[in-house]
Amino acid sequence: MHATHLECANCGEKHDATRLNNVCVKCGKPLLARYDLGRIAKIMTKAALRFRKADLWRYREVLPVREEENIVSLGEGWTPLLEAPRLGRQLGLNALFIKDESVNPTGSFKARGMAVAVSMAKELGATKLAVPSAGNAGGALAAYAARAGLEAHIFMPSDTPIANIVECRVMGAHVTLIDGLITDCGAEVARHKEKQGWFDVSTLKEPYRVEGKKTLGYELAEQLEWTLPDVIVYPTGGGTGLVGMWKAFDEMEQLGWIGKERPRMVTVQAEGCAPIVRAFEAGERFAAEFPDAATVASGLRVPKAIGDFLILDAIKASGGTAVSVSDADLIAGALSMARAEGVFASPEGGACVPAVRQLLAAGKVRADEKVVLFNTGGGIKYLDSFRSVTAGTAG
Ligand SMILES: Cc1ncc(COP(=O)(O)O)c(C=O)c1O
Ligand SMILES: [Zn+2]
Repeated sequence: MHATHLECANCGEKHDATRLNNVCVKCGKPLLARYDLGRIAKIMTKAALRFRKADLWRYREVLPVREEENIVSLGEGWTPLLEAPRLGRQLGLNALFIKDESVNPTGSFKARGMAVAVSMAKELGATKLAVPSAGNAGGALAAYAARAGLEAHIFMPSDTPIANIVECRVMGAHVTLIDGLITDCGAEVARHKEKQGWFDVSTLKEPYRVEGKKTLGYELAEQLEWTLPDVIVYPTGGGTGLVGMWKAFDEMEQLGWIGKERPRMVTVQAEGCAPIVRAFEAGERFAAEFPDAATVASGLRVPKAIGDFLILDAIKASGGTAVSVSDADLIAGALSMARAEGVFASPEGGACVPAVRQLLAAGKVRADEKVVLFNTGGGIKYLDSFRSVTAGTAG
């Protein structure tokens, strides 16, 4: 296939893509896959895509799996890009869209990353996979590992939504609940992995989840007939989707599919855990660990992200920004999306709604701009968070 090597996103050190890798051996930062895009441009044309499967493997040439038989798939990707006129009107936007990732296998965009990471782990010979998870990544790993016949070892905070925990166990994963945050879960994986022979698939600590997530960027462009929106609003924890989309835009430019234009990338975080917002406002390239992280949007409860500099670089280069919203507002945002458009958003997806309101009020987004909100997962796994706010309401 067309992957040539892995390259450190920080120091540029090259790594061999034909064997299992985690982070850069020199500096410990994330590795990114590089491809022979000149060659790919000749085979993967826009026209050829029209006849391909409606899943993320339609972008096969810019994905790292070499042998077709190693692809582990549950039908992930090619999710709807919904026009959202009613929600748009409420917010004061003429062209609002929702990229609805809740329809992926296991109900979140985490399926994209895990489909590709598990396929690669299988191809390169790993048999036991381990991950720290805020919830949805664990569910996705459990499903793809089951599909591949591999072992999954999942470490989650003990207050992770119960649906995520049950889902992992139903799928046969080994689940360990930790009294702490995702960072503590990550430390636990690191402590045991060597002795247990686990391959660590923590986000951006292995190179291929971001490759799966980057297909969000390819899809967005294809669904908008090879244009990009003015603004992308993305609920950010580890930031893999945002980093992946930014990478996809560069690749698509090199393929000759789009020009130099880029959307303004907006990171949304919860007030109770906003390390990227804090670093962006302070003009820093790396984000300090956010103390006492707390939010009902469990996927956003990531106090320290290894890809912090990649998120911040993309926001800055795009002329975007980073905003935080309160838990009450992000839940209300999910309700607005559900009631105006019929999309039962997760709290993380719901966070995009008050974020847009803030951006409009601050003049950072204009009414006539094309704006895409990412509903990264389904609300159905967060019933406890929604039950209290809907009790006694109509219907
Ligand atoms: C529904 C949902 N949205 C957003 C995120 C954050 O994603 P990322 O780590 O790619 O920034 C998560 C992570 O767990 C999630 O589950
Ligand atoms: Zn490096």
